[in-house]
Amino acid sequence: MTDKEPIALLGLGAMGTALARAWLAAGHPLTVWNRTPGRAEALAGATVAATPAEAVAAAGLVVTCLLDGASVDATLAGADLTGKDLVDLTTGTPADARDRARRVPGRFLDGGIMAVPPMIGSPDAYVFYSGDRDLFDAHRGALGVPAAARYVGTDPGLAALHDVALLSAMDGMFAGVAHAFALIRSARLPAGDVAPLLAEWLTAMVPSVYRTAEQLDRGDYTTGVASSLAMQVAGNATLLRTAAEQGVSDELLRPWADLMARRLAGGHGAEDTTGVVDELLIG
Ligand SMILES: NC(=O)c1ccc[n+]([C@@H]2O[C@H](COP(=O)([O-])OP(=O)(O)OC[C@H]3O[C@@H](n4cnc5c(N)ncnc54)[C@H](OP(=O)(O)O)[C@@H]3O)[C@@H](O)[C@H]2O)c1
Repeated sequence: MTDKEPIALLGLGAMGTALARAWLAAGHPLTVWNRTPGRAEALAGATVAATPAEAVAAAGLVVTCLLDGASVDATLAGADLTGKDLVDLTTGTPADARDRARRVPGRFLDGGIMAVPPMIGSPDAYVFYSGDRDLFDAHRGALGVPAAARYVGTDPGLAALHDVALLSAMDGMFAGVAHAFALIRSARLPAGDVAPLLAEWLTAMVPSVYRTAEQLDRGDYTTGVASSLAMQVAGNATLLRTAAEQGVSDELLRPWADLMARRLAGGHGAEDTTGVVDELLIG
């Protein structure tokens, strides 16, 4: 017997399995369902439901962690969510989350997981949550087991917005790293020799996000400028010429350089790169 609240978890992919292990280890009665049977076999202590409807019926707190929104729709189609609290940890867009919030009969919370499966249960893992605040408060203990819970607002789309903003920044970093390694490989140098230099340099650059945020929130992009846009655009020409000299495609570098050049052409040479944010706001 346990006083921990029961949870129904739909989806036992890499992430769902990691979540399941964390809840089971913390003593939560867990009912699981997965489209492909057999994935639950390694989960000692979990009750395996034959259908999504059976899993949903087993607990007041229902968690989905599936491939995408379509798989959540397909999975929940035959389940009665009346009176259930649904938490969707499937990655989606803000509009996806708002749409689901409108369609479910009970309370709804959307989550964006900021971790890879091996991080689940570690102090570094966290999940952005948005949507029904009462749901969040009611299940905060259970939600905080696999990863710290960070509530970002009642608008159900806000968790996805934060999730995707951070993932997009990560993509930009990966793109820069790919270009850097392409330059190094073009000279047939070992990537391993450059990896520590790259990691050190990127880490030193990370605090610039605070300066950018300060400038954006003040609406003044010319105070506290470390490197002027005019200088950086001149520098970009060197980056692009180096790529050409080394036989490395500029297809990752070019869009960023073009945006900076457009901002400079608008007469903003004294700014840092902060004004590029405004160039991106097309809606
Ligand atoms: N893995 C990560 O690093 C990570 C990090 C953060 C967030 N996430 C998010 O977590 C979610 C799950 O990721 P994952 O890593 O667990 O993915 P995964 O290993 O590919 O598992 C996908 C899960 O979705 C199920 N599924 C796919 N299509 C389905 C359908 N049409 N109907 C019913 N079930 C379906 C799969 O069932 P079967 O077993 O039957 O194929 C499986 O349980 C995704 O939204 C992902 O973006 C993942």
